[in-house]
Amino acid sequence: MEQKNNKTITTSAPGKLLLLGDHAVVYGFPCLVTAVNYRVFVEVSTSDKDEFLFPEGNNNHFVQAVLELFRKTYNVHQHVRVQTRTGQKESYGLGSSSAVTVALAKALSGLFFLDLSKKELFDLCYQVVLNVQGVGSGFDIAAAIWGGTLYFVTGGKEIEPLQVETLPLIVAYSGSKGNTATLVKGVGALYKEKPEKVGQLFFQSKELVEKGKQFLVAQNFAEFGKLMSHNHTLLQQLGVSTPKLDEMATAAVHAGAYGAKLSGAGGGDCMIALAPEEKRISVEKALKDVGGTILSVKTDEEGVRIKHE
Ligand code: MEV
Repeated sequence: MEQKNNKTITTSAPGKLLLLGDHAVVYGFPCLVTAVNYRVFVEVSTSDKDEFLFPEGNNNHFVQAVLELFRKTYNVHQHVRVQTRTGQKESYGLGSSSAVTVALAKALSGLFFLDLSKKELFDLCYQVVLNVQGVGSGFDIAAAIWGGTLYFVTGGKEIEPLQVETLPLIVAYSGSKGNTATLVKGVGALYKEKPEKVGQLFFQSKELVEKGKQFLVAQNFAEFGKLMSHNHTLLQQLGVSTPKLDEMATAAVHAGAYGAKLSGAGGGDCMIALAPEEKRISVEKALKDVGGTILSVKTDEEGVRIKHE
């Protein structure tokens, strides 16, 4: 496949937030994930040599790994120029590496006239995550491709888009970063050491996800919020929360949120709360009072999209 062209392809893909099922989803259990408006933009064109421009972030491992696997899989040898751009300087654990992976794979498929299905794109990008990180469920890749809100099972065994409108989410950054690969490996070690206890926690997580799916679709945010708080206690028992995340989750609920939890691997990054609109201001204030930074996050975000120029 070596068609010469002078096209430039621009794509963008959304970030994500895990609503329920964090960590358990690595081990064959389901999760609920929603795509968010922290999009990553990628521009690619053919070139005489490989050129990379990454003004922000440090997702270059993912960019290199996408290119390598794409070339090998589709027998492409042409050089490319890749430019990435994110809307914000800081990475808050909202999925910029999965978004850049998906946006680049989609852009390359456009540049080299391949019409990859969503599932083909998922399989390629999930393999990239495994090549770079060694671990991961692929939920973030699915969110970047499909967008919206998904019921997802490990490795894409099930990917079910849910009919869910915008969620009344409040997102606060805890001020420190978590290392996903290290945290996932830590939970893996605990699972080996205490298979029954951790297995029980994962099973409870699955039950929360199954119930949560019904509540989400029914727009029953009050009940969904309670499941989020319950999920946070499971994640505490897995040892991935931090005092700051706990403090923030407690403050949000005291200020009137339906529920709150850490979102993602833990060890820092973000806390999410679901709150009635009339409580938004007081919940945000309570989160700021304990040192959180409120992020303006919108859900119901479209999946990866391509723009021809
Ligand atoms: C990390 O954002 C979420 C984890 O469940 C890992 C994964 O599913 O890939 C901890």
